Amino acid sequence: MDNEVLRCIHARRSTRKFDERQISDEQLNVLLDAAIWAPSGGNNQSWLFTAIQDKEKLLRLNDLVRDGFQVWIPDDDYPGKLAMKTYSSREDFNFYRNAPTLIVATNKPNYENAMADCALALENIFLAATSIGLGSCYINQLHWLRNDSGVRAYLCGLGMPADHVICSSVVVGYGVGEPPVPARKEGTINIVR
Ligand SMILES: Cc1cc2nc3c(=O)[nH]c(=O)nc-3n(C[C@H](O)[C@H](O)[C@H](O)COP(=O)(O)O)c2cc1C
Repeated sequence: MDNEVLRCIHARRSTRKFDERQISDEQLNVLLDAAIWAPSGGNNQSWLFTAIQDKEKLLRLNDLVRDGFQVWIPDDDYPGKLAMKTYSSREDFNFYRNAPTLIVATNKPNYENAMADCALALENIFLAATSIGLGSCYINQLHWLRNDSGVRAYLCGLGMPADHVICSSVVVGYGVGEPPVPARKEGTINIVR
């Protein structure tokens, strides 16, 4: 079987290098509309998608993330977390990969489907971005720093409700180069008939 949706699913790649061009308002609206049409547990739709496109604000957030990582104690030994802590002290640290647009997905507290709902919305954003020629990537660092007071206060200043949990974020823009295509692991499908 072959159709546009299936081709889009296979064509989507995590893009981590972007050029300077900002995406258009129309493109941003397409992505945010895709997000809010994701399913949500009990039709909660309690998420908020905050799109940040202002360069200065993104850089300020990057500084706060850098500060946050300096004092952050990873809650497990996932190698990516330790690498990020080290990377955060470098001069060229940029957690959002210098993308022109960052969309932060937050959700109400004490809601067990908060992460699942936001993850599904993010996948909609990834697929919509692919379908209109944009690159995108899941960015986990704001979730890791979800309890950091500096990061939280700054996002609240940008409209995040004070009690919201930072679930995830995505960067979007015009990708540079061809991202690698990571092979899919064998043995991850189990069909019982
Ligand atoms: C929950 C989750 C967290 C991720 N966090 C990051 C991240 O912080 N930074 C990053 O560059 N990629 C991140 N990724 C992207 C994965 O690294 C990527 O999906 C994987 O390498 C497979 O590549 P593909 O998306 O091109 O198929 C994340 C993906 C998921 C699902």
